[in-house]
Amino acid sequence: MNFPDYRPRRMRRTEGLRRMIRETRLSVDDFVYPLFVVPGSGVEKPIGSLPGQFNFSVDKATDAASRAADLGIPSVLLFGIPERKDAVGSEAWKEGGVVQKAIRSIKKARPELVVQADACFCEYTDHGHCGVLHEGELDNDASLENLARTVVSYAKAGVDVVAPSGMLDGFVGACRESLDEDGFDQVAIMAYSAKYASAYYGPFREAVNSAPQSGDRRGHQMDYANVAEAVREASMDAAEGADIVMIKPALAYLDVIRAVSDEVNLPIAAYAVSGEYAMIEAAAERGWIDKERIVMETLTGIRRAGADIIITYHAPYAAKLLAKS
Ligand code: PBG
Ligand code: ZN
Repeated sequence: MNFPDYRPRRMRRTEGLRRMIRETRLSVDDFVYPLFVVPGSGVEKPIGSLPGQFNFSVDKATDAASRAADLGIPSVLLFGIPERKDAVGSEAWKEGGVVQKAIRSIKKARPELVVQADACFCEYTDHGHCGVLHEGELDNDASLENLARTVVSYAKAGVDVVAPSGMLDGFVGACRESLDEDGFDQVAIMAYSAKYASAYYGPFREAVNSAPQSGDRRGHQMDYANVAEAVREASMDAAEGADIVMIKPALAYLDVIRAVSDEVNLPIAAYAVSGEYAMIEAAAERGWIDKERIVMETLTGIRRAGADIIITYHAPYAAKLLAKS
């Protein structure tokens, strides 16, 4: 294929030609919309560093989920902020906890919506670490027991997918085993398989007030310099019974998405995290970038890298743009 016989520009000449040879398509079907649920009712509190995102009480979260469903978004991912935090994060597995209530309420209002729930303890512990501490260190196996309780309590509330996010060793196997034992073999697991220790989570930690009181998460989240290790993690989670493997963050980790999707034969999710959203919103607000085009280009790039599913705060915004186009 040599010039002048082959002229690549010929197929770029019109939108019709470009449509015919487009390799990656973005669809509302790809989106998962994260929601932050707080105690109370009638609460719809804006999150300062995530303009357009809110802390919702269960009733308001149900309305937001319903609006997402109206836009054709197939799924929401729930995060909870508890009434009270304690040393082990026991509200995470309370039958009447905010996430459990939100699952029941959203499934009742919109049974067709795929309800996923994040399962971790950093939002629930008074020290902000992702599990039980033993002599100041995260106790992996003790934390797994609480994780198993938490995902079963979500399953009892009617969740479709649990999303363990603590990057604890063996967390997928522990979730699968406890769900199966309690008769929830149909509840799926989306594993945060390659979750990096990232500065991109800053706005999220403000939203859920989960910054660790001391130290950081580099002892259990991944080093951002590594990619082979991500493939190893995702392969382990696949072997332990994950139904979806996730890479997080997305934008600075497109090579990781590619590497994992080449290696692991499961649906691949990518989480475009709070810092990614905040950067786009801040620059757009200043008029420095064209938000519509940046959002579409960014989400398409994440799909092109190999993600089947994108978890994004821009889901409703992008769904509206796609409906227009
Ligand atoms: C932990 C969790 C985090 C995010 C999702 N689940 C943050 C962390 O590890 O501190 C980040 C999401 C985002 O930044 O949008 N439960
Ligand atoms: Zn955590």
